[in-house]
Amino acid sequence: MSTQADILFEPFRLGNLLLPNRIVMPPLTRSRATQPGDAPNEMNAEYYRQRAGAGLIISEATQISRQGKGYVFTPGIYTDEQIDGWRRVTDAVHQAGGRIHLQLWHVGRISHPALQAEGAQPVAPSAIKPRGAQTFISADSGMVDIPQPRALSKDEIPGIVNQYRVGAENARRAGFDGVQIHAANGYLIDQFLRSGSNQRDDEFGGSLENRLRFPMMVVDAVLSVWGADCSGIRVSPTGSFNDMYDDDPVATYGTFAERLNRTGMSYLEVVEDSFQGNHAGGRPEQVIDAIRAGYKGCYIANGGYSADEARRRIKAGRCDLVSFGRPFIANPDLPERFRCHAQLNEWDSASFYGGDERGYTDYPRLADAN
Ligand SMILES: Cc1cc2nc3c(=O)[nH]c(=O)nc-3n(C[C@H](O)[C@H](O)[C@H](O)COP(=O)(O)O)c2cc1C
Repeated sequence: MSTQADILFEPFRLGNLLLPNRIVMPPLTRSRATQPGDAPNEMNAEYYRQRAGAGLIISEATQISRQGKGYVFTPGIYTDEQIDGWRRVTDAVHQAGGRIHLQLWHVGRISHPALQAEGAQPVAPSAIKPRGAQTFISADSGMVDIPQPRALSKDEIPGIVNQYRVGAENARRAGFDGVQIHAANGYLIDQFLRSGSNQRDDEFGGSLENRLRFPMMVVDAVLSVWGADCSGIRVSPTGSFNDMYDDDPVATYGTFAERLNRTGMSYLEVVEDSFQGNHAGGRPEQVIDAIRAGYKGCYIANGGYSADEARRRIKAGRCDLVSFGRPFIANPDLPERFRCHAQLNEWDSASFYGGDERGYTDYPRLADAN
């Protein structure tokens, strides 16, 4: 047994929070909000309470408006009922000694008229249908194809930025410790950022400068509510999920990182690799270098990490914190297991999305085995 201190348990100052460890629970959609209304409930509060040992919890993606919804059963943060539901969750996490940020989400084109008010067509920077992308529109729909979106007019963009601002305000009312802007995985902000999905010819598309405009407007709006200390953002520079592609991720994300750095935003979470698809075929070290060169705040690494790889990369200065997605689904006491090098429960992917307590709040803790 090594007598050296475990770097995963070195406390870390993140903005206004002091994290007791370097282990983050990343956003994980579990599609179990109360219907109708998309409000979090007691079962959701129990799930997050169980995982409060994380240095930081980032909530599942949470739509900031009806227009921003892309899947059945996901929670929102735009009605009083939803805010009250999230208050139960934040109270539970805080009572258990944890910290939690809300992930602010607008899906853009990854939606379906069946999920939109009055069957509206989903919106995007450009009218480009994501090939192969699918969603769930009801409990028994199975996966259905995403249709072609309509391109947002320039005049609509300030209203969408305002949805993020109101979402950020509502997150405050719900008792969160901060927010994470979802700019990853092919949703609205990512659709503006990357060249494959943004083929606009106005000031919101075309050049890199123009593609960064909408994302930076959202960042400014969210920071106006929360300040830099309590805000972070998530990107997936080489992810291919939802038919995403960028011509030059080193330039796109290196420049974006440098712009974010100027705002003082407290963290940048990077999906370096993903089981959902990665053009890079492994961690994109050059893109990571460019991001690290531009952005001096806290870097949270994500994607296929084991505890040992996390320790190695933190020690090597490649990241500050690491988030573990599927391991946290299956191991409510993941930090405790890492601390004592215990075996991990395996995740059951059949119960990831939708359903009841099974595969949600019934994964055993180590203590249950004794
Ligand atoms: C069931 C499930 C739901 C997810 N939901 C979200 C989400 O709401 N927002 C997000 O940014 N990423 C989401 N992801 C991606 C994870 O946060 C993470 O990037 C991915 O699982 C890779 O990390 P891992 O290898 O540690 O699991 C989800 C992944 C899974 C498995």
